[in-house]
Amino acid sequence: MPDSIDLRSALKRGIHSLREAHVASDTLAAELLLVHVTGRDRTWLYAHPEELLEPSVADNYFMLIGRRAAGEPTQHLTGHQEFWGLDFEVTPEVLIPRPETEHLLEVALDRLAVRELRSGRPPKLTGKNLSLIDIGTGSGCIAIALAKELPMAQICATDISADAIAVAQRNAERLGFADRVTFLESNLFSAFSSVSHRPPPFDLVISNPPYISRRESSSLPIEVRQHEPESALYGGEEGYELYGLLIPEAGRHMKPGGLLVLELGHDSLPAVQPLLETCDWVNILVTKDLAGIPRVLSAERS
Ligand SMILES: C[S@@+](CC[C@H](N)C(=O)[O-])C[C@H]1O[C@@H](n2cnc3c(N)ncnc32)[C@H](O)[C@@H]1O
Repeated sequence: MPDSIDLRSALKRGIHSLREAHVASDTLAAELLLVHVTGRDRTWLYAHPEELLEPSVADNYFMLIGRRAAGEPTQHLTGHQEFWGLDFEVTPEVLIPRPETEHLLEVALDRLAVRELRSGRPPKLTGKNLSLIDIGTGSGCIAIALAKELPMAQICATDISADAIAVAQRNAERLGFADRVTFLESNLFSAFSSVSHRPPPFDLVISNPPYISRRESSSLPIEVRQHEPESALYGGEEGYELYGLLIPEAGRHMKPGGLLVLELGHDSLPAVQPLLETCDWVNILVTKDLAGIPRVLSAERS
């Protein structure tokens, strides 16, 4: 490694190493890592291509490029991922928030607004008198985005992983929503099993549960298979097992007319939709993502 290297050459070399290792989105990953080690934004980097990197910064950059080339996700190296316009801390203990999960929030907010309209209230949602719960909160991205959109809602978020709850709590504190979201370590709704802890029924239950089949694990990219938490990925041997527990439990903790909004895996719909085809649920809606995959299943508690 030369003693000094300019930004343009460092970036070129970083992209080349990632391309050789068949890393997806090689240019973006190399840029994000350069932004991370220099503390500058992307625009600044491109405006100052001749700027020399401090040798220690260059060493750090090429060390991270090496780790990315070996399969570590960029977000684990930078410690960040943007979701719903907010900057979330991510660690190997939580799922990296995915862009398709934003559809879950869009469906929830749209359907809550329609519910307000139907009951004669203005559709401008503040969340007043609404009680919401995010099951399997991970980084806290869904619960915290809901807190941002619905400033008066009561929001609760659970996860079976204590490590995930710690990350979610830190995100809520850093983003200024710690007083708006109550985080609980809980297996689905088990934290509410004793009568003394039973909350009033919820207006919205939202969840992006683990939904990948264990059988599919070997076909997952190395970034996912080796670096994201198993409890966030696998729903069971088939993948859709957790929905079978979550849907009836959600029904028991919801108000009549309350909304259930679930993210689906790419092939979950045929196994999950029949679970809602009971007299407990009405107005079942399937929403596709931008790739045309049925991504969100939502329904109203009858
Ligand atoms: C697919 S990740 C979703 C994380 C986050 N909500 C998101 O959308 O990025 C699923 C999360 O559910 C949690 N989880 C798995 N089984 C659970 C259970 N039985 N009860 C509560 N949480 C569970 C995992 O620890 C993980 O954080």
